[in-house]
Amino acid sequence: MEKIHVENRNKYALITGATSGIGYELAKLFAADSYNLILVARNEDRLQDIADQLKLAYAVEVTPVAKDLFTVAAAEEIHGLTKKMNIDIEVLVNNAGQGEWGPFVETPLEREIDIVQLNIISLLSLTKFYLQDMVRRNSGKILLLGSEAGATPMPLLSVYAATKAFVISFGAALAEELRDTDITVTVLMPGATDTDFFHKAHQEDTVTYRESELAPPEEVAKDGYDALMKGERKIISGAKTKMHVWLSDLLGTTAAAKNARKLNEISEKAEGEKLPEHSASRQEREFINDETRKLDGDLHQDVN
Ligand SMILES: NC(=O)c1ccc[n+]([C@@H]2O[C@H](COP(=O)([O-])OP(=O)(O)OC[C@H]3O[C@@H](n4cnc5c(N)ncnc54)[C@H](OP(=O)(O)O)[C@@H]3O)[C@@H](O)[C@H]2O)c1
Repeated sequence: MEKIHVENRNKYALITGATSGIGYELAKLFAADSYNLILVARNEDRLQDIADQLKLAYAVEVTPVAKDLFTVAAAEEIHGLTKKMNIDIEVLVNNAGQGEWGPFVETPLEREIDIVQLNIISLLSLTKFYLQDMVRRNSGKILLLGSEAGATPMPLLSVYAATKAFVISFGAALAEELRDTDITVTVLMPGATDTDFFHKAHQEDTVTYRESELAPPEEVAKDGYDALMKGERKIISGAKTKMHVWLSDLLGTTAAAKNARKLNEISEKAEGEKLPEHSASRQEREFINDETRKLDGDLHQDVN
């Protein structure tokens, strides 16, 4: 049985995208510190599995909430649900995010509008609703998932990178607006991480996924968690990611875009299937494959 952190026992953290990758690892860190959890993702069965797993391992309350953040109404519905449960969300983690690889002229517009909805509109809506509650209490913490991609224009991943540039700018501005309060906003900027992200983004044959060393989601989540708990405004996870961001700043947008393009092109090593080694992310992929019977299928299913 894990140690009980009495100071957090009645606190709630809400984490979007908690069934796979970085969000799943963040959920474990919160549970280990005795936070009760509200976990959001689309797939109800996977959410329930993970809720049961965390309850058993950490003796915390875990509420799975199946919502599709591609839809405009989801953020308000989630906020309404936690109001109805009569709980205050002490920590909001806006983690769920997706990308779509390919030349912008060819990628499906509908998919990109979904991504803007998920990565920007749902993120800012959840932040608006929960921040208003936090300001009333003068207490709370918000973690926003940015990316090194937000610091660099990314040819072949242009919309995704632009959504993450939004997150970085939005988070820094909010943190400053809130500087005289007890509420903090932290932006986590990971580099390429070993999760199902690349498969959902149809990016699994690129130089980045095939040839670079991917960060373990456990380490990325721990960097984000520690920075969040210290109230830091921004954390770039890992030495390589810090170097990439530094280089982009130095090069400026035109040269940085040229450089990033090489990483997003198809690798000559793109043969055979490559799956995440991180087990929760691998399970996410296997589940999606079972549902759609194809490796590159994003999960589309009806949830409330
Ligand atoms: N992996 C990387 O290299 C990397 C690098 C930098 C930043 N990031 C950022 O890190 C965050 C987490 O990504 P990850 O790499 O951990 O990805 P992941 O392994 O694909 O996990 C994504 C999570 O989000 C949920 N999700 C996806 N679409 C959703 C939707 N429409 N509504 C609600 N939940 C949704 C997924 O569950 P369901 O499928 O059941 O909905 C899953 O729990 C994202 O914001 C991503 O942009 C990732």
